[in-house]
Amino acid sequence: MKKLIMSAAVFAAIVAGCNKSATPTATDWEAEAISNACEQMALQVKAIESDTTGRILNPVTTKRNRFSTSYCSYADWRSGFFPGSMWYLYELTGDSSLVPLAQKYTEAIADAQYLTSHHDIGFIINCSYGNGRRFINKEDYDKVLVQAAQSLSTRFRPNAGVIQSWNTTPGSWQASRGWTCPVIIDNMMNLELMFEATKISGDSTFRNIAVSHADKTLAEHFRPDGSCFHVVDYDPENGNVLHRQTGQGYADSSVWSRGQAWAIYGYTLCYRETGDTRYLDQAVKTYEFMKNHPNMPEDLIPYWDMDAPDVPNEPRDASSAAIIASALYELCTYPVADPEGMREYADNMMKSLASPAYTAKPGENGRFILMHSTGSIPHNSEIDTPLNYADYYYLEALKRKRDLDSKI
Ligand code: GLY
Repeated sequence: MKKLIMSAAVFAAIVAGCNKSATPTATDWEAEAISNACEQMALQVKAIESDTTGRILNPVTTKRNRFSTSYCSYADWRSGFFPGSMWYLYELTGDSSLVPLAQKYTEAIADAQYLTSHHDIGFIINCSYGNGRRFINKEDYDKVLVQAAQSLSTRFRPNAGVIQSWNTTPGSWQASRGWTCPVIIDNMMNLELMFEATKISGDSTFRNIAVSHADKTLAEHFRPDGSCFHVVDYDPENGNVLHRQTGQGYADSSVWSRGQAWAIYGYTLCYRETGDTRYLDQAVKTYEFMKNHPNMPEDLIPYWDMDAPDVPNEPRDASSAAIIASALYELCTYPVADPEGMREYADNMMKSLASPAYTAKPGENGRFILMHSTGSIPHNSEIDTPLNYADYYYLEALKRKRDLDSKI
């Protein structure tokens, strides 16, 4: 009973904080988007704090019944997004009642810093601790980032020059595809952790691994039109390419939208960290490819795969729009041909996401902010559902947009 009373108080405090969220630069749709996000996340927090099992629940999506929320463990690749969303909500609202909660949800996944069984430790730790360290306990959180980078470094295959994304344990679906050292384009997102770890520790090994991975991916993952493959499988002994395929797209040669989003975001961050214009050019080229794709819908929310056979009746992927929009708010600050056009494109994506077509009413959609994302159609998993990473990159994009607008 005590816990329920406390959660009601937490909910009330967060909702009160929502009302302070508008800033002088916020347009109506942004203010509404932040207020809506706040209300949904307050409900999510209320559910977490009301749980009586003793666990700290980490929401990821809805169950197949579409009504109840599903949760993940610290080892799941998506475990850093909800804690990270709490940090962004704090940044967007200035509501200090969010800080102890963001801290609690972040520290609940501390064990992830030791994970060596997949490459996603970059997503997990950078989105949670990486955001948290901007506000609190810098030294403690720094140590977690460096440990996580060390764990990720164990997956570096020096002869191939890449971080191996997935294991190919006998019996796994990856093994059934005949892969040896599969690298997925998503892995570009894990490099941010490596750059940060070098800045914190002074150990250039992490940065060198990141640059090697980015260079090899630049050479092998992209097609002449600027789009990318999802999976490139290497011979770890010599770096020869064994396969170029897909895991989550419609076909090996098709355009899996979230993969393109990871590429745009990943090469934007690599340009930020290195100043290497090859990375900048690739980010722009993949963005332009998506922008000019004949199947890009009018509302700019990509189909899960732009080449899927039943377009325009294929499920959308709101997560890829959120990731692209967030990336573009950074990319447009660099020397690109049409920064204003890029920014306007991101604004238009965000306006679609913030509209009732994609933003859920508070209390619906498993208490997630955005509807209509797609996890993996080939695995018959998370089709037209909410996803916590769609929400995370949406909040990040709102924050990046606000920062940009305040500089005008
Ligand atoms: N990193 C996994 C995904 O994008 O679905």
